Amino acid sequence: MSKSILFTGVQPSGFLTIGNYCGTINRWTEFQKKYLCFFCISDLHALTILPKKSKESLNNRILDTLALYLSCGVDPSKSIIFLQSNVYQHTQLHWILSNFSYFGELSRMTQFKYKVNLNQNSPINLSLFSYPILMAADILLYQTNFVPVGLDQKQHLELVGTIARRFNKRYGNIFTIPSIILNNVGFKIMALQNPMKKMSKSDNNLNNSIFLLDSIDSIRIKLYKSLTDSSNPPEVKYDQYNKPGISNLLVILSSLTGKKISDLEIEFNKCTYQYFKKSLLDILLEVILKIQKSYFFFRKDIHYLYDILRLGAENARIHSEKTLCQVQNILNS
Ligand code: TYM
Repeated sequence: MSKSILFTGVQPSGFLTIGNYCGTINRWTEFQKKYLCFFCISDLHALTILPKKSKESLNNRILDTLALYLSCGVDPSKSIIFLQSNVYQHTQLHWILSNFSYFGELSRMTQFKYKVNLNQNSPINLSLFSYPILMAADILLYQTNFVPVGLDQKQHLELVGTIARRFNKRYGNIFTIPSIILNNVGFKIMALQNPMKKMSKSDNNLNNSIFLLDSIDSIRIKLYKSLTDSSNPPEVKYDQYNKPGISNLLVILSSLTGKKISDLEIEFNKCTYQYFKKSLLDILLEVILKIQKSYFFFRKDIHYLYDILRLGAENARIHSEKTLCQVQNILNS
């Protein structure tokens, strides 16, 4: 029996954070054993927020992201790793699917509204608006069964399902309807200084995010500076509304250790926040330094990295072309 298909991606708009890791990347090796996995580096999506940066810097981000995929355990001999812009089928299907996507539903996307709000004085790119349609093309081209992502992508994934069903209703069962995989813990890691908002790789306040490539010192400083609360005595307890900072740190620790939050609450009962943070720091460093060790090994070997992208694109083109041909035939008949 053939394996189910899994598709996921990261946009190389900055260095990966512990949010990306706990939200999804930490399970990629597990998925790699069960499914035929497509791990995409979605550089076309990154253009929506990087249009003014030079090509050189985007290229570097792409190689950094690829080296991080490898150091987090993605294996090019088992999975297909590729760059979105190397597979033209994505933009082609994107255009076709935009004929099956409605202005109203795209306007309701919270990420779009958030980004528009953030840049109130700048013009809004059309690409930012049609961002989820390109995601739909990414996913539907491969007849994907599963898409592991963090919570912030859930609404986009629901729209992908809507677009696919709309197309299928008119033309027959062309697209597989994908299911989202959300981690039980870590699906939304919050910013360290402002735990009411999501940790993001493009946050201007660098103290909000722990990056997988941060130095030991910087991780320590960011963690020790992270917002907690003034409970007296201090209480390491999960309470998202009254103790968002501590709750976020508990989620990170639970995600990295696999221990239940309720067990961690018992383990750190009556401990100071300083002690709790020190324990989290030890675990964080263990995970991150292991990743960094192989990252620097892979990142040096540019030829190897380009070879992976070349081979990945060849494979991705073969798979995606089948669906694109089917779609084109049905539209032209
Ligand atoms: P991106 O690059 O913003 O994030 C990559 C993955 O990390 C998850 N994530 C988080 N999870 C938990 N806590 C956080 N603070 C956090 N921040 C990010 C995201 O949910 C995502 O799973 N549009 C996508 C990339 C993409 C894609 C796709 C994903 C393009 N095409 C098709 C799946 C399928 C993005 O920008 O992810």
